[in-house]
Amino acid sequence: MANPIPQAGRVTFLDGRGELPMLEITTPWSSAEIYLHGAHVTHFQKSGEPPLLFMSQCSRFSPDAPIRGGIPIIFPWFGKPADKPGQHGFARVKVWELKEIHSPADGTVTVRLALPGGAELAAGIAVEYVVTVNSDLTAEFIVTNGSAAAFEFENCLHTYFTVGDIGAVSVAGLKGVDYLNQPTAFSRHTDNDDVIRVASEVDRAYLNTAHAVEIRDASLRRVIRVEKEGSRSTVVWNPWIAKAKAMPDFGDEEYQTMICVESGNVASDAIKLLPGETSRLKVKLSSRPA
Ligand code: BG6
Repeated sequence: MANPIPQAGRVTFLDGRGELPMLEITTPWSSAEIYLHGAHVTHFQKSGEPPLLFMSQCSRFSPDAPIRGGIPIIFPWFGKPADKPGQHGFARVKVWELKEIHSPADGTVTVRLALPGGAELAAGIAVEYVVTVNSDLTAEFIVTNGSAAAFEFENCLHTYFTVGDIGAVSVAGLKGVDYLNQPTAFSRHTDNDDVIRVASEVDRAYLNTAHAVEIRDASLRRVIRVEKEGSRSTVVWNPWIAKAKAMPDFGDEEYQTMICVESGNVASDAIKLLPGETSRLKVKLSSRPA
């Protein structure tokens, strides 16, 4: 029997939470939401599955605050270097420009956004974000250096995943990799475990690793796969109890149903783009039954 012809995807532009402009996307396989504030993907869900991306019930939706959950874009720095204002850069609190929506007959939807120019970035630095929605979610973060000087930056797609119960989760793909451990003043360790399990705060920047990572969730009976290109770092984060309580935009119990596996280039993996060069960070998120 011939395969059924997929319907085209649908994109609706509307006011989202906090009246922030948002794109609502449906495809034959999935649904998604993207806010222009931060070019923030707040939702992706395959038909018949729980949401892939975790969103905090306490998230702010306000022009001057980052959204808690989904995929915050961390750029042009990660964390809080002493010489930078604020944490994780400014891309996540800028209103991005919608450049293009592509919705071909095969059902896939692709959205292209651009970071507006401004005082924070040197003239000639162009930043684009291309999100493709079908049965998977693919996000590509593209920086082009059209200036006359080298441009150094960190980037990270700080992805929050939904899990059923953090105690039933293992994260595979980072064995043998060195990481900087944030809770112990960024001390350096080698991960010798087959998988990571979370039973206390985990906040690790794994360096020099291009490997795909899998989140195995025995509770939701789902395996989430994070495949990446143009990324040397993977950050794994769960705030656990005390930090969850300390964050105003995160529920006290929500640490039990989320984990961040973030793909990017941070610390010694930071990118130095020479004039005329382009860097591409591409992440594909997929899931399958466990
Ligand atoms: C993670 C960092 O990537 O982001 C953590 O490793 C940090 O240290 C977390 O707490 C959340 O940061 P923010 O700025 O969104 O609260």
